[in-house]
Amino acid sequence: MTTSPAVPAFATRDPAMPDFWSERFEKRFMPWDRAGVPEQLMQFVAAAPVPLSTLVPGCGAGHEVGFLAESGWPVQGIDFSASAVGAAQAALGHLAAHVVQADFFTHTPPQRLQLIYERAFLCALPPMTWPKVIGRYGLLLPPGALLAGYFFFDSTAKGPPFGADPQQLDALLSQQFERIDDQPVADSVAAFAGRERWQVWRRLPNKFSTREITIA
Ligand SMILES: C[S@@+](CC[C@H](N)C(=O)[O-])C[C@H]1O[C@@H](n2cnc3c(N)ncnc32)[C@H](O)[C@@H]1O
Repeated sequence: MTTSPAVPAFATRDPAMPDFWSERFEKRFMPWDRAGVPEQLMQFVAAAPVPLSTLVPGCGAGHEVGFLAESGWPVQGIDFSASAVGAAQAALGHLAAHVVQADFFTHTPPQRLQLIYERAFLCALPPMTWPKVIGRYGLLLPPGALLAGYFFFDSTAKGPPFGADPQQLDALLSQQFERIDDQPVADSVAAFAGRERWQVWRRLPNKFSTREITIA
């Protein structure tokens, strides 16, 4: 018989608030945390023609931020939870400056982005906020830039994690992006196993803009 880890009692219930996440980091209840770098991100970095200027929204403990920084990529991780940022900065040591406390909805990255890396950020937020999240992805990424990472698909309404319906997520993303990769994931944590996919989306040109960057 398998036993799930005991779930502590929580005082916070709203995942749109930083305190919700801070409480979970402080109580060390982080079933999403991979404690390492997932395989398809490593392959993506190995295959990239050049290091990409990257934002990691809701970076949590910052494993991928450290990996990207060590790979020579200009990367910034942001998280609005002070406890998450504290944990990430402590783990990252000399790379701690790559993580800052900031709200994704108001943060302006210090440099022009070529990539947003997504893992357990979209699914951490209620689906009613997804048009706003995806709209901001589109605002922060110039045409040709990439949105790559792990997307969680599930039909239960309860969350987090909030699972996406594949058609609904496609419809939302396709307004500004075209999908250029879509793969099953073999190294998921238990919370996402069998229900997440690695996907890469390329920002479509703006209707009236000629400024486009070439990556993939
Ligand atoms: C489920 S955790 C995932 C953490 C990390 N991406 C990972 O894969 O381990 C979601 C994270 O998103 C952060 N977050 C949620 N809403 C945010 C917002 N509006 N701005 C910045 N961070 C946010 C939370 O504080 C939390 O650390």
